[in-house]
Amino acid sequence: MAPVCGIVGYVGARQAQPIIIGGLKRMEYRGYDSAGIALWTPDGLETRKRAGKLVRLEAELADRPLPESRQGIGHTRWATHGGPTDQNAHPHLSGDGRVAVVHNGIIENAAILRRELEAEGVVFRSQTDTEAVAHLLRRALDQEPGLAAALRAVCRRLEGTFTLVVLDAAQPGRIAAARRSSPLVVGVGQDENFLASDVASFIEHTRHAIELGQDQVVEITADTVTVTTFDGDPAPVKPYDIEWDLAAAEKGGFDWFMRKEIFEQPQAASDTLLGRIDQSGRLCLDELRIDRAQLRAADKIVIVACGTAYHAGLIAKYAIEHWTRVPCEVELASEFRYRDPIVTPTTLVVAISQSGETMDTLMALRHAREQHAQVVAICNTNGATIPRESDAVIYTHAGPEIGVASTKCFTAQIIACYLLGLFLAQERGTKFGDEIAELVADLTAVPAQMAALLADLGPIDALAQELVGVESVLFIGRHVGYPVALEGALKLKEISYLHAEGFAAGELKHGPIALVEPGLPVFVVVPPTGRDHLHDKVVSNIQEIRARGAKTIVLAERNDAEAWAQADHAIPLPLAPTLFQPLLAIIPLQYFSCQMATLKGLDVDQPRNLAKSVTVE
Ligand code: AGP
Repeated sequence: MAPVCGIVGYVGARQAQPIIIGGLKRMEYRGYDSAGIALWTPDGLETRKRAGKLVRLEAELADRPLPESRQGIGHTRWATHGGPTDQNAHPHLSGDGRVAVVHNGIIENAAILRRELEAEGVVFRSQTDTEAVAHLLRRALDQEPGLAAALRAVCRRLEGTFTLVVLDAAQPGRIAAARRSSPLVVGVGQDENFLASDVASFIEHTRHAIELGQDQVVEITADTVTVTTFDGDPAPVKPYDIEWDLAAAEKGGFDWFMRKEIFEQPQAASDTLLGRIDQSGRLCLDELRIDRAQLRAADKIVIVACGTAYHAGLIAKYAIEHWTRVPCEVELASEFRYRDPIVTPTTLVVAISQSGETMDTLMALRHAREQHAQVVAICNTNGATIPRESDAVIYTHAGPEIGVASTKCFTAQIIACYLLGLFLAQERGTKFGDEIAELVADLTAVPAQMAALLADLGPIDALAQELVGVESVLFIGRHVGYPVALEGALKLKEISYLHAEGFAAGELKHGPIALVEPGLPVFVVVPPTGRDHLHDKVVSNIQEIRARGAKTIVLAERNDAEAWAQADHAIPLPLAPTLFQPLLAIIPLQYFSCQMATLKGLDVDQPRNLAKSVTVE
């Protein structure tokens, strides 16, 4: 089983090995614990595979070089069932070595298939579900000599989610692949073609790509791409050009992708706003291809997402309800469909996902569509499964996010949700045009405010130095500051492996305050001054924890004298309306976690046990 793997296939005029290994390297961020490659040669398929990172595979390739070849497949595997061993690494071969298979996803009926094959005398060499596909494909080739036809026959027997890419020693110059739910794109080059889980793996060679749909098989040669359904009918091909370039997928002088992506937030934010607001401050979301009458009739909004995207949704709820007066629920996608949620044709479901491939979110949106709800995706990845299966999509234009810890996509997701909320308010008439224009003016000021904040993060470096030895950190906030606290804690957990918790500041006295002991660092997100009692209540919360010895690290507006009086460490924020403050307040927290992990000598971009996109439930 291989749930969040990276897959590369190449056939063309050049040497395949460096292209495949280079492609796998560009997908390292997805998370993996073994890697392998298979090349076609006139004497049969040659494979090398190793548990561990790609450097181990490269060492193996240096010790036992592969012959030259212009055609091959590669894989990085993230183990779940069946440990990260050399044997379980992909590619998997048929018993006679004629076919090689790499796989992303889960074959749910693998145990049944395995028993059936073993009863027929097949000997398995790994604990993976993938190996069954290699044996089945080999058998299918005896009935259906064409590679794509044999693969289609195998797919019709498989249950679960999968991307499969296969090579046949007897069919030079040809690679076939199949897709159900897991990601797969075709890169179209000059005298060469590519297959990959992610366009990042071939962006240095071509920016022309083809989206593959559900339950489709593709066969590529150096100059052809043929797409069919699992039943063999021709499938419409959707070519597109990748908008970002190679530089976007490289570190550009930064030590970590995460750090680079933190600094890219002003650009990501302004690119996400671009073209969606007209000169008079009206929202023009032309991409929201949902009948306007339906948008006006929506009586409930449900946001589904996971992890950081869920936190973006929690923040969006405050704004959407405030602006539209439509009840808005936010739910973890993994919980949503298992509790019989009330979703009707007048519910507007918003699925937020950076990757567009998160299985929990995908399943939640499928459930919502089964109940005939309208679904809008907010996504950063062009053509991914979640936007494809939604009624409409608002893309975040944050560029590729490589660091496992989501940063620029978080702020871009909040902005996309805000654009949606303001658009709904405009359509439903719950805000006057001049009110919307005023909010839009504040929102468009955010990218410059982000840049100002990013220019002055020196004090966070010093803070991380001071706190590098701590074992536990708390984050508190109220209103939109509460999800910011949750996100600050998630960032620290993910990459620094520290115990970190986010709490609603008002909840402290109901339990969590018992955790506070002398010296415990507590980050406090203080709302802007001058708005009802929110600000003063948070200042009182700081006093409560300070009285118990906590070390207070206070994020507040730069002129907030009351908050500063309670701060052991002060992190000044630019002045912004309450609803827009999260877009700024999260930045020092993201940077702090990056700094802490760096000081601890941890791998910031590929934290242990995590993968960038989680394509299993
Ligand atoms: C955040 O830093 C994460 N690594 C993770 O929580 C992520 O946000 C979550 O898995 C959802 O991913 P998606 O946005 O691609 O759907």
